[in-house]
Amino acid sequence: VVGSVDKKHTISGVINVPQRILMGPGPANAHPRILAAQALPLLGHMHPPFLAIMDEIKSGLKYTFQTDSPYTLMVSGTGHAGMEACISNLVEPGDKVVVGNAGIWGERVVEMSKRFRGEVTDLKVPAGQTVPYELLKQTLEQQKPALLFLCQGESSTGTHQNLTGLGELCKKTGALLLVDTVCSLGGVPMFADAWGVDAIYSGSQKCLSAPPGGAPLFLSPRAMEKIQRRKTPPATYNLDLNLIGDYWGWFGKRSYHHTGMVSTCYAMREALALVNEEGLESMWSRHKELHHRLWDGLHSMGLKSFIEKDEDRLITVNTIKVPEGIDWAALIKNAMDEYNVEIAGGLGPSAGKVWRVGIMGYNARPANIELVLTAFKDGLKKQGWKKF
Ligand code: GLV
Repeated sequence: VVGSVDKKHTISGVINVPQRILMGPGPANAHPRILAAQALPLLGHMHPPFLAIMDEIKSGLKYTFQTDSPYTLMVSGTGHAGMEACISNLVEPGDKVVVGNAGIWGERVVEMSKRFRGEVTDLKVPAGQTVPYELLKQTLEQQKPALLFLCQGESSTGTHQNLTGLGELCKKTGALLLVDTVCSLGGVPMFADAWGVDAIYSGSQKCLSAPPGGAPLFLSPRAMEKIQRRKTPPATYNLDLNLIGDYWGWFGKRSYHHTGMVSTCYAMREALALVNEEGLESMWSRHKELHHRLWDGLHSMGLKSFIEKDEDRLITVNTIKVPEGIDWAALIKNAMDEYNVEIAGGLGPSAGKVWRVGIMGYNARPANIELVLTAFKDGLKKQGWKKF
């Protein structure tokens, strides 16, 4: 033997994971059926039974995105991998990219688009607002960009971007429409085809009730044409959608690109089966009803939304203004210590200004909303809040 083992091994025994109720912006608790699917035996990543599971995922995503496009798959990685797959493939060096920037996800798309050498117009709006249709129309007509990005659910501020009319506008001005649905898919309506969306990425760990690690992705035939017309391949091999698509059978065969995340695919398959079994309309209305239930309770304590306009409020991630004199971090700590429930603080532009409560997937149940309300009541009372 050359050398000796002189670094100490420090890990042993069974992993310790406390049970918590995750009512922040995600991950939400995974559905038990999804966790059970992840524990099933591994298959080879090119074995026919595994390829059949990949096909089920593609078909489940067609339903979930409401599309007939053959171009759906799950990117191996979190929502960020989905974001980077879209940007790196849809943006060619020198392309104009207009970014609707309503929070941290818009910021990241600005940064990523620059890294892939797009020429970015950053339509940044104040935290808590969405990007106005008129501003988008004017910018698209003037600039004729290759790509417009919007985030449907901006989890850092709690806004819901209305997408009405934007697909049509993009088609008229020659842009592709890319939408982030990481925290919104399954919780609020999305009609990829009817709304004329060209590319969407999402995440597994929010309203789809799976663990983090899989990013659902959709491309319209128009987006696929743009990718196939590129003058140079994307500056990423790992996220090249022509290569990944060829692994997922987009072009009639299967080529090895990377080792598919076998257990994560089981989870996504099961998550999409649950979406299908419940039905999208019923999922959307469940999330909406609980959003109202949460706000009825919060309003009765004298708390207010960070978002001024009702129509801009996101159902799946709710931002609650921290009142003057209240220590937001102490309330979060009390919720975890006393009730075992996660309430999150702000992020990016909302840091220190809000609490964030997620209403997502398996966690979107009345008992969880009541627990969050109890934790708020107790936390506020302990700080001498007098409004209820
Ligand atoms: C993550 O998605 C977050 O909003 O914190």
